[in-house]
Amino acid sequence: MSDSAAKAETELTWVPKASGIAREAGARLREFLAAGVETEYKGDVDLVTVADRTVEKLIKTRLGEAFPDHGIYGEEGTRERLDHEFRWYVDPLDGTTNFAHGVPQFCVSLGLEQRPAGLAPDQDGTLVAGVIYDPMRDEMYSAERGRGALLNGKLMHVSATPVLAESLVATGFPSRKRHDSPNIHFYQEFTLRSHGVRRAGSAALDLAYVACGRYEGFWEFHLNPWDTAAGILLIEEAGGRVTDFAGNKVRLDSREVLASNRLIHNELVGLFSDMFAGRNLSPIPTPAEFAASRTARAAAAQ
Ligand code: IPD
Ligand code: CA
Ligand code: CA
Repeated sequence: MSDSAAKAETELTWVPKASGIAREAGARLREFLAAGVETEYKGDVDLVTVADRTVEKLIKTRLGEAFPDHGIYGEEGTRERLDHEFRWYVDPLDGTTNFAHGVPQFCVSLGLEQRPAGLAPDQDGTLVAGVIYDPMRDEMYSAERGRGALLNGKLMHVSATPVLAESLVATGFPSRKRHDSPNIHFYQEFTLRSHGVRRAGSAALDLAYVACGRYEGFWEFHLNPWDTAAGILLIEEAGGRVTDFAGNKVRLDSREVLASNRLIHNELVGLFSDMFAGRNLSPIPTPAEFAASRTARAAAAQ
């Protein structure tokens, strides 16, 4: 980290302490990964491990010490001081399925919302700080509103790619209500219209990758505030855009997220609109159609 970058980070209000907490949490995740953990099921294929629970407890303790007045809303059940002005959305381990299988693609995500007095419980405040830490690559993504976004202390920016056709994008699939998800259609259509679609298994890291310019876009159905709070702010501060699928302001509970480098955003919203209306879809051969043409090709070749 250069001296000026280090100075910029220490001048921030919440990031220095939050990134220290995320680093400690990430170190615990690395230890758990090395030791191996048993997997339990929260739902159908919705996994949870002792690492998720232990690390959420650790983060809850550390946030309580660092910011005793702040509320905490964690994936593994922490609900503290939710009537206070500031609220942390905590995902202690985003990418549990990867983690449980030993795949080194997961992170810690901490997003801070400021909620003015009198705000209705179903209204969003303002995201003011976010930290996402990838403990396997030692990559710390951080941002505070109005202060830019940093990767390991250096300013980061979204990519300058202007069109979807030259973009690499990412998505994820829900582990609950899998049969209700139409996302495979979107996966196919985006695959045909871009350099490719990655499905790496950690929504928070996917958002961080849009913020630092590795991906041009990301979308997912059915995410939760602990998955997205930090990543939304990172992308906005890095010059990108995050909305719902119709291009409207994203809400923490909107459960649909469309993120981009801003330049391709209208194109992505247009594609969602076309697809929801059943327009311009590229036909996919069914396995049976493919098998028939394969058999026909083999017969013709003899
Ligand atoms: C999951 C990951 C995954 C996404 C799922 C999330 P978890 O979070 O972010 O990439 O596709 O929708 O639930 O359960 O590993 O914290
Ligand atoms: Ca998550
Ligand atoms: Ca999680």
